[in-house]
Amino acid sequence: MLIRDFREKDLVHVSNLVVETFNRNYNPEFYISLFERWKRGFLVVEDERGVVGVLVAAISAPKEARILLMAIRPEHRGKGIGTMLLSEFISRCFIADIKSVSLEVRVSNESALRFYNNQGFDVISLLPSYYEDGEAGYLMRKAL
Ligand SMILES: CC(C)(COP(=O)(O)OP(=O)(O)OC[C@H]1O[C@@H](n2cnc3c(N)ncnc32)[C@H](O)[C@@H]1OP(=O)(O)O)[C@@H](O)C(=O)NCCC(=O)NCCS
Repeated sequence: MLIRDFREKDLVHVSNLVVETFNRNYNPEFYISLFERWKRGFLVVEDERGVVGVLVAAISAPKEARILLMAIRPEHRGKGIGTMLLSEFISRCFIADIKSVSLEVRVSNESALRFYNNQGFDVISLLPSYYEDGEAGYLMRKAL
């Protein structure tokens, strides 16, 4: 298992993983613009067969990062890969002198809530009707 920076040739694999996970079909320019904005904040995990996970983040304010999406392929979940990927991202944040990392999660996404909780993220607030389908989200944050 290798964690590395995103490369343009990963685009189709990342896009497929996001469609599969979140049912979201973003255009390639969306990914490329995020990559251009913060290259070290766009990570993929690959095994010998290809991309199995992705984490995309942005700098949301001075010294603050926001995880925009994180997904591990369904058949690879629960094996510690998400933990590894998030740890690598947090290390990169330390190096970049980032002081806090935030993200939003659907209130119904119990496995992700538990996962982020285990990784030291706290629920900061409830975001009513945060998602397009009307579901609420939780804003979570981890201080570094
Ligand atoms: C949330 C997500 C990124 C976590 O990734 P993951 O690789 O499954 O995470 P890990 O395997 O590191 O940890 C998940 C659980 O497996 C357990 N685990 C860790 N290593 C393990 C191993 N070797 N074998 C079995 N279980 C293990 C962990 O204890 C953890 O338990 P928890 O559910 O109580 O937190 C992943 O489940 C996912 O892609 N979900 C769908 C997308 C999503 O919801 N994204 C977050 C919102 S943006």
